[in-house]
Amino acid sequence: MSQAQTREETIIPDHIARQIVLPAGHADLDALHEAYRWLRENMPVGKAVVEGYDPLWLVTKHADIQEVESKPEVFCAGGGPDKPGTHNPILTNKAGDDFTREMLDGSVRVLEALPFLDPPEHTEARQAVFPSLKPVSLKQYEEQIRELARQSIAHLEKISASGQTIDVVDDFAMEYPLRALMSMVGIPQDDYPRMLRLTQEFFGAADPEHQREGIEATPEQMAQQFSATVQDYYQYFDTIVEDRRKCPMNDLASVVANAKTENGELFSKTACYGRYIEFATAGHDTTSATLTGTLKLLAQHPDVLDRVKADTSLVPRLINESLRLISPVKHFMRQALSDYELRGQTIKAGDRLMPLFQSANRDAEVFDKPDEFNIDRRPNPHLAFGYGQHICPGQFVGKLELKIMLDELLPRLESVESAGSGEVVHTNFVGGLKHWPARFRFAA
Ligand code: HEM
Repeated sequence: MSQAQTREETIIPDHIARQIVLPAGHADLDALHEAYRWLRENMPVGKAVVEGYDPLWLVTKHADIQEVESKPEVFCAGGGPDKPGTHNPILTNKAGDDFTREMLDGSVRVLEALPFLDPPEHTEARQAVFPSLKPVSLKQYEEQIRELARQSIAHLEKISASGQTIDVVDDFAMEYPLRALMSMVGIPQDDYPRMLRLTQEFFGAADPEHQREGIEATPEQMAQQFSATVQDYYQYFDTIVEDRRKCPMNDLASVVANAKTENGELFSKTACYGRYIEFATAGHDTTSATLTGTLKLLAQHPDVLDRVKADTSLVPRLINESLRLISPVKHFMRQALSDYELRGQTIKAGDRLMPLFQSANRDAEVFDKPDEFNIDRRPNPHLAFGYGQHICPGQFVGKLELKIMLDELLPRLESVESAGSGEVVHTNFVGGLKHWPARFRFAA
């Protein structure tokens, strides 16, 4: 077979590539999942060539994503140890990346955050802070999270009192995870609205609804908005680092501000901002999208709602199955540091790959009847939290927040009824439903 033929075979049909690569393609979930399915069955490792973007390999099978993510020495996140900051783990179009490089002297590392780092830098930063997010360390926060869950449920009961249709995202699910996380970090309640706005801007840069006033969605302006959001975060967290270094408290802000490098020195302030922004962003839309999505799945499956209401020990299984189907984090990009053979395709050094977690989680080779909502799946080896060295270090926080909320909500809930299919965030990165109308009924 000639080289030209081989190359031709690996190029993904245009409409499928656009469905997955372009943020707007993610607004139509049925078409998106159909595109993933087509790729898994026909071109599991295929090259997407979409105008405005660097060519990239879409990786859609569960096993291949595990293979890529378990080899950081071959597939780096941020450019590798020799060229840190040269690769963006968040898929952005060429104009956006070019703009960032211009602003940051050739670097695309907009944040000193873990997804942008490779070992040994990544290992050091991760080990310094993230043991404090292991289940045993989270026990101290359980009561404060439960109190916040109860407050959110009381609000939901109030606004649902007269059989009113509410927007589950805006009126209920959006704020709780951020409030829970901010309370763990130790941020004052008055500042929650600012954090909420910033996280929405951070993730929804491509969604018209979340753009800063007056900024049109050209690629440069999207990058500009992102950068303005990051600067706003930095300004806010600067005071927090100062405060906690002077006067440490029993909160995550103090853990971050006083964490030490392997040489026993405090991390730079920029590194601390990176950790805080990780908490505020990574832990917010992810969990709220999962909460909304779970409630929608329960509205669509009242039999499952009855089961989990009657037996809340099923909640962890419910959460895992919802995470599998929703998978609010769609990708984190990787770049090959050397040539590598993946499912018969030659990935060249320098090539970019897009591991697609949502697709892995519907791979029929791993999950029986993958599109079905089945809380009895055991095991349920979903990749909603990723895999390998970058696997989500906040997964226990996310699961704890969801478990506390559902433990509190389900026994009080009589029914939840969908009043429309809702709308999905236009993003190829992190997001789920941005609006979903529904009616809740509570036990008297
Ligand atoms: C339902 C909730 C959540 C989901 C579905 C989720 C999913 C993910 C995924 C898929 C990754 C990328 C893993 C990879 O590259 O293989 C990730 C990374 C990360 N998540 Fe989460 N996450 C959630 C909640 C949280 C929370 C609550 C926090 C913080 C408290 C958090 C902090 C992080 C951080 C810091 C990273 C970067 C890790 C690294 O690059 O080493 N996440 N998350």
